[in-house]
Amino acid sequence: MALVKRFTQFVDPPNEGNITQVPESVPTLGTPKIETRGMSFFYGTKQALYDINLQIQSRAVTALIGPSGCGKSTYLRSLNRMNDIIEGTRVTGEVLLDGADIYNRDVDVVSLRKRVGMVFQKSTPFPKSIFDNIAFGPRIAGQTNKSELQVIVERSLKQAALWNEVKDRLKESAMALSGGQQQRLCIARALATNPEVLLMDEPASALDPASTARIEDLIFELKQNYTIVIVTHNMQQAARISEMTAFFCVGRLVEIGQTKQLFTNPTQKETEDYITGRFG
Ligand SMILES: Nc1ncnc2c1ncn2[C@@H]1O[C@H](COP(=O)(O)OP(=O)(O)O)[C@@H](O)[C@H]1O
Ligand SMILES: [Mg+2]
Repeated sequence: MALVKRFTQFVDPPNEGNITQVPESVPTLGTPKIETRGMSFFYGTKQALYDINLQIQSRAVTALIGPSGCGKSTYLRSLNRMNDIIEGTRVTGEVLLDGADIYNRDVDVVSLRKRVGMVFQKSTPFPKSIFDNIAFGPRIAGQTNKSELQVIVERSLKQAALWNEVKDRLKESAMALSGGQQQRLCIARALATNPEVLLMDEPASALDPASTARIEDLIFELKQNYTIVIVTHNMQQAARISEMTAFFCVGRLVEIGQTKQLFTNPTQKETEDYITGRFG
């Protein structure tokens, strides 16, 4: 697996001639972890996504960007069938996870969502203790062994870079945590069921800059082991944390490419207009 180095700087004004520079290394283009083929999405009669063909690479971060209302969240939620809970929605085309269509009739949605976890824009801790928040998913999956649960809680909180801050207060309410801590708690909760994919819908948009930086660092760590798809309206953030960026506009995928290439040398005029701030 060869992933690009962290390039925190390249959205700053480029140095002379750097603008068309070839990326330092290329994400491995193996079998995609997720692929949508000719995928369209409808809320009742209103079509929100049109014929989306997109491949998401394993163990990398793919950012979804685009103007508000262009279908980013709809697309993200379709990847673990979160849209199923909205009445009257319909998907056509294929959404493949490791090559198998997640909309097949025999797919168990609960185990699908265990494999493909989700973190939302607004942190959503349950009004329970920190421990019980993290143990929630494993308990639903049938884990009742106290010491096993302790191991899972500690591992998940460590992975979410929250353990040191909460290890002495696991019995306290998660609602007492700061906004940034709550969001890391939600990430830990998603990790507790050992997912393969993490979907994140603007996970840092409600956070202050310091908490945002912690979430970004965390995403950078997590992609070693997880496939991450993140919606962000913050182009600098997409540039900092993702290998691949997909630009959506009015329900269509306009362009997907290596993040660095897409931000410095987009192939589509619409993408260029968006990233240079001419609309959106
Ligand atoms: N629950 C819903 N019911 C009907 N229409 C919806 C619903 N959620 C989103 N939409 C519509 O689908 C389109 C895409 O929305 P969304 O995926 O939320 O865009 P984004 O995340 O890019 O802002 C918008 O036109 C929005 O109004
Ligand atoms: Mg959205």
